[in-house]
Amino acid sequence: MSYPFQIRSLEEYSSAYRRSIDDPEEFWTEIASFFLWKSPPQKVLNWNFKDPMVNWFDGGVLNITENCIDRHLADKADQPAIIWEPNDPTEKSRTITYQELHEEVCTMATVFRNHGIKKGDRVCIYMGMVPELAFAVLACARIGAIHSVIFGGFSAQSIADRIQDAGATAVITCDGAYRGAKDIPLKSLVDEAVEDCKTIKKVFTLIRTKVPVSMIKNRDYFLEQEMLEVKRSGTINYEAEPMQAEDPLFILYTSGSTGKPKGVVHSCAGYMIYTTYTFVNVFQYLPGDIHFCTADIGWVTGHSYIVYAPLCAGATSLMFEGIPTWPDAGRFWDIVDKYQVNILYTAPTAIRSLMQLGLGPLENKDLSSLKVLGTVGEPINEEAWHWYDKNIGKEKCPIVDTWWQTETGGILISNLAGITPSKPSYATLPMPGVQPVLVDDQGKLIEENNVNGNLCIRFPWPSILRTTYGDHERCRLNYFSAYPDLYFTGDGAFRDENGFYRITGRVDDVLNISGHRIGTAEVENAINMHAGVVESAVVGYPHDIKGQGIYAFVVYNEEHSINEDATKANIAATVAKVIGPIAKPDKIQLVNGLPKTRSGKIMRRILRKIAEGELHHIGDTTTLLDPGIVEEIKKNKI
Ligand code: WT7
Repeated sequence: MSYPFQIRSLEEYSSAYRRSIDDPEEFWTEIASFFLWKSPPQKVLNWNFKDPMVNWFDGGVLNITENCIDRHLADKADQPAIIWEPNDPTEKSRTITYQELHEEVCTMATVFRNHGIKKGDRVCIYMGMVPELAFAVLACARIGAIHSVIFGGFSAQSIADRIQDAGATAVITCDGAYRGAKDIPLKSLVDEAVEDCKTIKKVFTLIRTKVPVSMIKNRDYFLEQEMLEVKRSGTINYEAEPMQAEDPLFILYTSGSTGKPKGVVHSCAGYMIYTTYTFVNVFQYLPGDIHFCTADIGWVTGHSYIVYAPLCAGATSLMFEGIPTWPDAGRFWDIVDKYQVNILYTAPTAIRSLMQLGLGPLENKDLSSLKVLGTVGEPINEEAWHWYDKNIGKEKCPIVDTWWQTETGGILISNLAGITPSKPSYATLPMPGVQPVLVDDQGKLIEENNVNGNLCIRFPWPSILRTTYGDHERCRLNYFSAYPDLYFTGDGAFRDENGFYRITGRVDDVLNISGHRIGTAEVENAINMHAGVVESAVVGYPHDIKGQGIYAFVVYNEEHSINEDATKANIAATVAKVIGPIAKPDKIQLVNGLPKTRSGKIMRRILRKIAEGELHHIGDTTTLLDPGIVEEIKKNKI
C-alpha cells in the first residue's frame, strides 16, 4: 500500500509539480493534513527573502516525535523502527520496535526533564552510531529541547566552539565510539571541550566501549543508570511537549566560506512534512521496506533520512555503526544480504572507494532484495554511477541522485525512483514545491537551457533553514544577499535541454571532501595556529576517491623546522587537533611565499590551477606583487 501523498507515475509527478507552483498553499495544506497535529495550522505560508522570514504552518501545534512514534503504535507497535548493525559483525545486532522506541525515548526524555532540561534549551549530542543516538535526538525533540548533534570526527575545540555558540546546557555522549578498527574516546574529548564551556550543567554518558572515563560529581551521569532508575520507579513521563510549527527543532553546524561554522536552524513542522514527503517520493518507500542510509547521524543526511523522515513514515530504518571497508570491503554487501535491504542510500565517495577494490567483495553476496539505490553529498561521476548500477543494482534498480544541503533540510532536486527518468551524473528535476533558477554572476536570470549558472531557489519550501543560530544577519548575508529575492545555494549547475540539473560543485570557498563540507578559511585558521606557520592558503583539487582533496600551501618559519616531513606531519596534527581528523590536508606544500596582488590579496585562482595540475593554464600573473613566487610553487608542486 502506498502513501496518500506518494507520486506513482510521471503524469502524477507533472501534475503535483504544477499544483505545487500554481497554489503552493493548497498543495502543502493537503500534505500537512496527513500528519498528526495537536492543533491544525491556521496560516500556511508567510514569507519574504529580504529579512529573510519564512513561516510555514503558523498556528499549528505538534510534536514531531508523536508523528515519528506514537502515531504508529496502533498498527505498527511490533514492527522494527530501527535495526542496528554493530561495528563488529560478530557482535549481536539489535532491533527496536516502535513500541520499544516509544518506551526508550520517553524514558530518556524523562531523565532529561528530571535534570531540569526544558523546552528551548540547547543540548549537544556527541555520540557514535548507536541506537541511543537516535533515542537522544528524539528525546530532545520530545521535550522541545533543541539538539545540536556533532559528528564524532570533530575535535574537542570544535565541540567547544559549537557548545559556546549555541549556549548549550547539557551534553549527551558515549564513553567511546567504534569506527572500523579505531576506538574514539568521545567522553574525554567532551571533558576537554567542556572545560571552556561555562553553560554546561550536565553531561550524560552512555557506556559503549568500556574505556575508563572520568566522572565529575553533580555534572556527569551514566545515561543507562539514569534510565534504569526512571523505569524501575515507574515514573516514565510519556507527554510530548506541544511545539509551535515554527519552534526550532534542531541546530546543525556546517562550514561556510568564513572561518567559523554556522548553526543552521530548522523548525518543527516544515522540516517534518518536507523530509517525510521527499523520503516517500524520492525512494518510493513502501511499508515493510528496509531502508539503509549509510550516513552518520552527525550530518544532515542522517538527521533527515535515518531518523526523522523514515520514522515519520513508519518505516524500518537500518542504522550501521561501522564503516564500509571494515573488517573488509564487503561490509555493505554483507549488511544488504543479512537484512535483505530494499533501499540503499550512500555517498559517491563510498561507491568509488569500493569500486577501486574490485568485484571480489561482492562474491556470494545476495543483493537481490535491493529495489532502489541512492547517492548524496557530492557529484557522482559517470564511471561510479555505472559501476553502482551494474554491480550493485544489477541494472534493475533505479538510482536516485539526490541534491540538497544542510540548509535545505531535505532533498530538493532528484529523480523519483522508477517514476521520473534518471540520467547519470544529473540530479535531474526539482521536487514538487521547489523552484530552482540559474543566474549569471551579475544576478541576471538565465532562461535558456544548455547553460551553466549559479543555482538559486526562488520560493520557500517547507524545510528551508530559518536562521543561523544567534546571528540572523549572517543568514541573510550568506544565503539571501548575493542575488535579491533568491536563496543562493553556493553551487553551480548545468541545465540540459530537458531542464535536468547537473550540479557542478561549489562556486564559493567551501570544499566537499568525501561529501563533507569544509571551509578553506576554517582549515587555514587551523594551520595558522601551528607555532611555525607564517601564513597559508588552502584550495581543493580533484581526488579520485574523495571527490575533492585538501591542498595546503604553507609559508613556514625556517627556525621552527626540524625536517620537512616532521613539519608537515605536525601541521596535519594541528589541523586534526583544532578541527578534527576529517579536515587534515591531503597535501601540504611548504612555500616561500604566496601569490598576492599588490593590495595583498591571495590569488587563490592561481593556487587552484596549480593544485589541479593545470600548470600551463595559470592565466595572467602580471598583476602579482612577485610573479617569481608562482614559478617556484609550480616547480615544487606535489
Ligand atoms: C553540498 C551540501 C545533502 C546532504 C549531504 C551534504 C553537495 C550534495 C549533491 C549531489 C552534487 C551534491 C553540494 C551541496 N551535494 N548533494 N547529489 N550532487 N553535489 O550536505 O554538507 O550541507 O553539503 O553538497 O555542493 O551544496 P552538506
